Amino acid sequence: MTDKKARLTVDGQDTSVELPIYACTAGPDVIDVTSLTKNGFFTYDPGFMSTASCESKITFIDGGKGILLHRGYPIDQLAEHSDYLETCYLLLKGELPNAEQKQQFVQAVKDNSAVAPSIAKLIQSFPKEAHPMAVLCSAVAGLAAVYNDDTDIAKAEDRDTTAYRLIGQMPTLAAMTFKHLKGEDFVEPNKALDYAENYLNMTFGNSAASKVSPTLAKAMDRIFLLHADHEQNASTSTVRLSGSSGTNPFAAIAAGISTLWGPAHGGANEAVLNMLEEIGSVENIDTYVEKAKDKADPFRLMGFGHRVYKNFDPRAKVMKQAADEVLSELGLENDPLLAIAKKLEKIALEDEYFIQKKLYPNVDFYSGIIMKAIGIPTEMFTVIFATGRAVGWYAHWDEMVSQPYKIGRPRQRYTGYAKRDYPE
Ligand code: ACO
Repeated sequence: MTDKKARLTVDGQDTSVELPIYACTAGPDVIDVTSLTKNGFFTYDPGFMSTASCESKITFIDGGKGILLHRGYPIDQLAEHSDYLETCYLLLKGELPNAEQKQQFVQAVKDNSAVAPSIAKLIQSFPKEAHPMAVLCSAVAGLAAVYNDDTDIAKAEDRDTTAYRLIGQMPTLAAMTFKHLKGEDFVEPNKALDYAENYLNMTFGNSAASKVSPTLAKAMDRIFLLHADHEQNASTSTVRLSGSSGTNPFAAIAAGISTLWGPAHGGANEAVLNMLEEIGSVENIDTYVEKAKDKADPFRLMGFGHRVYKNFDPRAKVMKQAADEVLSELGLENDPLLAIAKKLEKIALEDEYFIQKKLYPNVDFYSGIIMKAIGIPTEMFTVIFATGRAVGWYAHWDEMVSQPYKIGRPRQRYTGYAKRDYPE
């Protein structure tokens, strides 16, 4: 807290309302508007453009400067020196683990990676044409049914166990969803493999063999790591809001998965590939760029722009490097769809419209390219995003419920009818 105060004066009223200002370790100070209700006002901020919905110590973003820090560590340093599970530990516990803490954490995640037979049956009950995000969302909600009785969210120990179950089972559920929709048998998790290798093995391998390319496993681990958290985005805010009622954490995470599905959020990586397919050939790019710039046309270049980053998304830089490594390892530099992506990226980075509006390629643009190259089908992209993001959702939920919190309950600017009588 600082001694600084803001004063709000309303036309026609003699007194002004004094509002405390709280300092942050980074980023803009916040004006506490909670007392406004007593003065007969609500604040109005559609899309939460200026609203800090909570206090948090997990992740900091400066969109203007292209900075993303987890517990203070820059994302590019984590991508270079850390790995996904270590970053999970950091997000959850606030500090990097020592060697023993890391080993114990990794083991606990592995020990909790197999899913209950009832969840396997649930996944198998869905039609093969189902969207994988719908299947994943139902499966994670199903975990609430499996683990409700032994989860007391007031106990730190139970919350740790839930974290191991969630992080351990997300890749298993993602791979099972893929296998079911392809009509193939499930592959059990293999504790001898690391996190990303195990995911790739459960997706593309079989129970006997476990040969995963180190370049692809490293790229997969980076995809998980770069998606691990992104402060109060739509899906994380959903998890906090849902969790604020005291609901089961898996139910809250399922709500976050539903939010992530949309094309303005996690669904963008799927939308990128669909768009590249729609563009069809390099010759058509100019037409689509013009469509994106035309205000009368609802078409937008998917994978470009971001609500917070008005500079290059720092995750996109690392993801671009991983994309180049994967394409070279797989000899796919000349793939026609990827050629469209590269040309599009170049044009958009040079075009006045995109430069002026600060519409840079975002992380989804490059992650979509990598996953396509690895052989993951387009409709699975958001499932991968959800797998990586699960820890971020959980860290925010855990931060909220481990201290006093209120149920989230926004107010509204009502513009419907005032009271009127029912016609007699
Ligand atoms: N293509 C063309 N024009 C765009 C694009 C785009 N991808 N994105 C924004 N614009 C334009 C808008 O038309 C608007 O123009 P105007 O000022 O002339 O009206 C201006 O840029 C600002 O756009 P807003 O929609 O107001 O920006 P907002 O911050 O609300 O939206 C969003 C951000 C949703 C990401 C948007 O840029 C978009 O739709 N991008 C494509 C979808 C996408 O890639 N989403 C992934 C987000 S990243 C993630 O979830 C991990």
